[in-house]
Amino acid sequence: MNLEQIREYIPFILEGITVTLQYTFAAAIVGFIWGTILALFKISSMKPLKWFAVAYTSIFRGTPLILQLMIAYNAIPQLTGYQISPFQAALLAFGLNSAAYISETIRAGIMAIDKGQIEAAMSLGIPYSRMMIHIVLPQAMKNILPALVNESIALLKESALVSTIGVMDLLRRADYVGAKTYLYFEPYLIAGMIYYVLVMALTGVAKLLERRLRRSD
Ligand code: ARG
Repeated sequence: MNLEQIREYIPFILEGITVTLQYTFAAAIVGFIWGTILALFKISSMKPLKWFAVAYTSIFRGTPLILQLMIAYNAIPQLTGYQISPFQAALLAFGLNSAAYISETIRAGIMAIDKGQIEAAMSLGIPYSRMMIHIVLPQAMKNILPALVNESIALLKESALVSTIGVMDLLRRADYVGAKTYLYFEPYLIAGMIYYVLVMALTGVAKLLERRLRRSD
């Protein structure tokens, strides 16, 4: 261990936190919105929408995320001539991939809502979209909050894959310091501790949120 020699690089590694968080949050938003839409497709009575969502989930869960990232970053420019930025590629790959997982979580959350709620809404003549937005989804979201936190943790850690497309995130910065100083263990250890602290912080925020939501029970 030679932390003394690494010390001057610590701020450089720390700057990776904002990069990592930026990619994580952006992907989480895309994943959540698209995942919710896919979940609604899955429970829809319109068969083509259902088939699409099921096939989508199967493909995005059935192939490696790193492959999806590489397709987004390397193959999209080849096919379309559009030079995609690393951020756009990551947003696309992580967002679309996470949506596949989130759609299953949300679908389960919706299915768990008591049928009486839906029957009551329908007998009151509340339109389907309003029933979903105001009655079913809010209750479903509350129940699946722990699963959504799991998903955010997965995204935060998987965001390290952007280091393979040249993004200076936490992991790539640590790796860079290793290559520069020939001391790898120290920077990796620092990066690992930062990831761990970030995950713990996320867990803590989720706990608070969960407690706040329970108050209305
Ligand atoms: N490591 C997995 C893969 O290579 C990605 C898992 C993503 N998981 C998630 N819940 N978003 O495909």
